[in-house]
Amino acid sequence: MFKQLRSMDVCPALFECYSAETLWNDSHISQKMLELHLNPDVEPASRNRVFIEKSAAWMSSRFNLGGGFRVADFGCGPGLYTTRFSEQGAAVTGIDFSERSIAYAEEQARSNGLDIAYHRHNYLDFSIDQKFDLITLIYCDLCPLSPQQRKRLFKVFNRHLEDNGLVFLDVFSLNAFKKRSELATWGYRLMEGFWSEKSYYGFLKTIKYEKEKVILDKYTIVEENRTWEVYNWLQYYSRQALAGELAANGFQVVEYYSDVAGKPFHEDADEIAVVAQKIPEY
Ligand SMILES: C[S@@+](CC[C@H](N)C(=O)[O-])C[C@H]1O[C@@H](n2cnc3c(N)ncnc32)[C@H](O)[C@@H]1O
Repeated sequence: MFKQLRSMDVCPALFECYSAETLWNDSHISQKMLELHLNPDVEPASRNRVFIEKSAAWMSSRFNLGGGFRVADFGCGPGLYTTRFSEQGAAVTGIDFSERSIAYAEEQARSNGLDIAYHRHNYLDFSIDQKFDLITLIYCDLCPLSPQQRKRLFKVFNRHLEDNGLVFLDVFSLNAFKKRSELATWGYRLMEGFWSEKSYYGFLKTIKYEKEKVILDKYTIVEENRTWEVYNWLQYYSRQALAGELAANGFQVVEYYSDVAGKPFHEDADEIAVVAQKIPEY
């Protein structure tokens, strides 16, 4: 018991474990995630539906999405953005490793008569013989990745973008980092049975890595015959840090916003959204 409690409490090395596969593909958790994506009012998996409508409409006009403009949405989930882009006349590809989300997105495309190419794949090693005018990565999906994984993802973006092609993504800001606190809590069926259909005790430990601007929400799930963990890492960014990381990976920021619906940039916003252009000679 002491050993178990100690291992729950310990502060791991930064990005030591990557458990995104469990988070998005475990059969019980992925069902809960899909329900969250499709609930128009809650925001743990996708933003609320009013915001998504506004954001997709803004992107459609900012990027002129009609006329076969080629967009690849990385981490497309159940297709809340891809569907809207396709309805605007864009040629749309969606990439996500969640089997449940991609199955739902494909079914939606079929029943709405939309021609969207979906790929169920880990985007860190995604590769097809095709280039895009725009790559999107929406809902701060850069933030859970380690610096090495982010480098890999930028390489994938580079390979799949036309010269001068654009990336549009958002991240959590330092302002959002300031609002987070360290925490330790536990409960029977923590988060109302989100983690397992079986009986379990869930423990959450939130750790702030002050210097590196990273937060870890570490969940330990104790079932009768099994104990397992989920590590949710989030990197928070200043505008300079984000621009520097993009520049080091072949992208130049051309526009800053406070959200993916085109809200003007403000230092106090909780998110930073950027349009970045591929540097051709990179
Ligand atoms: C926070 S959700 C955002 C979904 C969508 N962009 C939206 O805003 O509605 C993150 C999505 O990224 C996917 N994802 C996370 N890591 C991934 C990876 N390494 N490869 C492919 N998809 C990944 C998850 O399955 C999930 O659908």
